[in-house]
Amino acid sequence: MSGPMLRAEGLGYSVGGLPLLQGLDFTIGPGAPSFIIGPNGAGKSTLLRLLHRLLPPSTGQVLSAGIGRQAMLFQKPVLLRRSVAQNIAHALSLAGIQEPGRIPAALEEVGLPHLAHRPARLLSGGEQQRVALARALALRPDILFLDEPTASLDPAATRAVEAILARTAQRGVKIVMTTHDLHQARRLAGEILLLHQGRLVEQAAAGTFFSSPASAEAQAFLRGDILE
Ligand SMILES: Nc1ncnc2c1ncn2[C@@H]1O[C@H](COP(=O)(O)OP(=O)(O)OP(=O)(O)O)[C@@H](O)[C@H]1O
Ligand SMILES: [Mg+2]
Repeated sequence: MSGPMLRAEGLGYSVGGLPLLQGLDFTIGPGAPSFIIGPNGAGKSTLLRLLHRLLPPSTGQVLSAGIGRQAMLFQKPVLLRRSVAQNIAHALSLAGIQEPGRIPAALEEVGLPHLAHRPARLLSGGEQQRVALARALALRPDILFLDEPTASLDPAATRAVEAILARTAQRGVKIVMTTHDLHQARRLAGEILLLHQGRLVEQAAAGTFFSSPASAEAQAFLRGDILE
C-alpha cells in the first residue's frame, strides 16, 4: 500500500513513573482523516506529540512509512511576535523551503490573505489558529496532526476550517486530529480511535463507530455519559 502509514507498537508514555499512555497498538493508513477522541485527560494530545515525534516513547515505538514531511497544529497556537507572513516565512525557512509564493497561497487557502502584514500575536484567537493552519499547510506535509483545531473558532470559521481539511485530505494528505466535537468527527472522519485513561479502547471505521460502537466505553461516550 502506498501513502502515509503510521504504526504504534506497544506504545507508552510515562511521567515520573505515572503512565499517561500504555500498551497502544494500532495502524493508521492513508485515506480519510483519522480522529482521536476521548474525554479530557485521556491522553489525546500526548499521543499526537508521540506520533509527531516531539516526545520520546517510554515503551514501544512509532513506525512510519511514506512520510516525507509532517506538520502539527497545537491545541494552543504558538506564533512569533512578527507579521503573519513572516511567521509562515520562518517555518518555510526552518524546513529549508525557498518558495515565497507558498505564503500568499497558504493564506488564501485559510481565507486570511488580508492579514498577511498584521502582527500575528495581536490577532484574535480564532485568526491565530487559522494562521497556524496556514503555516502548517505551507509546508505541504504528507501527514498533518491537528489538536482540537476548531476548539476556539466560531461556527462559520469552524465550517471553513473543516472545508479546508476536507480539501487537504482529498489531495492525499493524511490528517490525524483530535476533537471534542462529535458532529465534526461524523462530518470528516474516516475512522475513529477512542482513548480512555491512556488506553486505546476502540478503533473503527467512522460509520461503524457511530452506528454500532463495540465497546461499553464507546457506547457510554456517545451517550454523553461520564467515563470513569
Ligand atoms: N508532562 C506531563 N506531566 C504530568 N502529567 C501530564 C503531562 N502531560 C500530560 N499530563 C497528564 O496526562 C493526562 C493526559 O493529558 P493530555 O493532554 O494528553 O490529555 P487530552 O486527552 O489531550 O485532554 P484534553 O481533552 O483536556 O485536551 C492528563 O491527565 C494530563 O494532566
Ligand atoms: Mg488535549
